[in-house]
Amino acid sequence: MSNPLKLSDLDIGVSEGEILCSLTDIDDGGAKELSYRSGSDIHDIFIQRVGNDIYAYVNICPHAGTPLNMDDGKFMEKTGKYLMCHTHGALFQLEDGFCVAGPCNGASLRPVDIKCEGNNIIAC
Ligand code: FES
Repeated sequence: MSNPLKLSDLDIGVSEGEILCSLTDIDDGGAKELSYRSGSDIHDIFIQRVGNDIYAYVNICPHAGTPLNMDDGKFMEKTGKYLMCHTHGALFQLEDGFCVAGPCNGASLRPVDIKCEGNNIIAC
């Protein structure tokens, strides 16, 4: 698994412990996209919700570097078991972002270091 991205390490004005959004802001099975800019760098991440569990990754496919989704908040394939890159169909495990099928099989999404406390999703 690749090194988790720590938002508070970037020059984007997010500090450790800062609330990013609420769990209830995200529909079950849906995802929230967040985008941060630091100079000319853009950091796009998404937070996928499944029940009361959350999974956060940088929104860059390890195959060709495109965003995983084409539609807002839609990162899951139809069975709801895997995250999917909509460019060439790579499938990633929710819990660790490991690619199990597709052109980047064996590669991983980069996780984002967040946690959920109560209803708050917080930067670590
Ligand atoms: S860019 Fe994601 S599978 Fe090709």
